[in-house]
Amino acid sequence: MTSILIIDDEKAIRKTLTEILSFEGYKIDEAADGEEGLKCFKERTYDVVLCDIKMPKLDGIEFLQKASEHNGDVPIIMISGHGNIETAVEAVKKGAYDFIQKPPDLNRLLITIRNAKERNTLVFETKNLKRRAARVQDMVGESAPVKKIKETIEKVAPTEARIMITGDNGVGKELVARWVHEKSNRADGPLIEVNCAAIPSELIESELFGHEKGSFTSAIKQRIGKFEQANGGTLFLDEIGDMSLSAQAKVLRALQEGKITRVGADKDISVDVRVIAATNKDLLKEVEEKKFRLDLYHRIGVILIHVPSLNERKDDVPLLVDRFLEDICGDYGIAKKMISDEAVKQLQGYNWTGNVRELRNVVERLVILSGKSITREDVTTYVLPK
Ligand SMILES: Nc1ncnc2c1ncn2[C@@H]1O[C@H](COP(=O)(O)OP(=O)(O)OP(=O)(O)O)[C@@H](O)[C@H]1O
Ligand SMILES: [Mg+2]
Repeated sequence: MTSILIIDDEKAIRKTLTEILSFEGYKIDEAADGEEGLKCFKERTYDVVLCDIKMPKLDGIEFLQKASEHNGDVPIIMISGHGNIETAVEAVKKGAYDFIQKPPDLNRLLITIRNAKERNTLVFETKNLKRRAARVQDMVGESAPVKKIKETIEKVAPTEARIMITGDNGVGKELVARWVHEKSNRADGPLIEVNCAAIPSELIESELFGHEKGSFTSAIKQRIGKFEQANGGTLFLDEIGDMSLSAQAKVLRALQEGKITRVGADKDISVDVRVIAATNKDLLKEVEEKKFRLDLYHRIGVILIHVPSLNERKDDVPLLVDRFLEDICGDYGIAKKMISDEAVKQLQGYNWTGNVRELRNVVERLVILSGKSITREDVTTYVLPK
């Protein structure tokens, strides 16, 4: 349902507009001045905003400026009285979508709103197409464990089930998470990633849930957290085993109630987010050591996907080498280098403690250092056996 925010200090105008637009099937919120309007604008995402020009506290032009700074994607239509058509024109130059005159002409009002909404849909779709054009990398591998992972992804992606992905460094956990999102019904929504290990524990709450301006010393601006950013899409909590216990408690609440609170705010915000988590830790051991909450483990681990280390699926090494050669040579803008069967065999025999990521780095090194084609000697010279 299209949602519209109406900001006007004249109650009669708000009432008329609300009546007309509700009748047309729009969902309406009202605000009596620019300040209140801005508050609503920051709290939820509207499809279109109708905004008066002359208002107490914050006038229409100031609202336009502040609102576009916050989110420039929402079309704002100015409502102008007789006295301020020039200002309305000025507003359009400053980024307002259009203006309509008071008293609003019904047809023109509806057409303007429909056009604004349509433009926005187009902007959104273009962004989406661009994102999709930067497609998710293939998951290469024909070994039994990789086939099983692909099957599991096909099955669980379209559901809303939460997923816990486990496996060593560099096995491809993030890739699995991307594919789940891509094949889910949320693929058109955002995929937001948080690396829990990279954020200091005192900042993780604000990172995940956002904060209000002034809620703590360094909170100089309001911030939208990752949960809110992921609304309608997927939130990927990477390295969840490194999350502090206090943040775990908050995440648990968000998952149980589908609501979050920004740090320093008194209101809850509903969020519609699917959570996928990954870790290279043995979470049950962490639970035993009281470093991870068992209830959170059960909440997220509805589906468990374990990605085995590369040493357990060495059959995949030749396919991976071939793909990496193609990708890397492509990136360097050179023809795909050949690699001898012996060289591939040699690589297959190595102990890949860094898993697929390490293999990719090694292939890149070989592409750079070898001659026209990659030989067994190149492998023994440039790749140190472990
Ligand atoms: N099956 C695969 N096919 C092609 N590329 C892969 C595959 N698995 C992993 N990769 C590549 O290997 C690299 C490491 O993968 P990824 O980042 O998903 O691993 P990870 O398990 O999340 O690692 P970490 O635990 O270090 O975060 C990436 O460049 C990824 O694209
Ligand atoms: Mg990762």
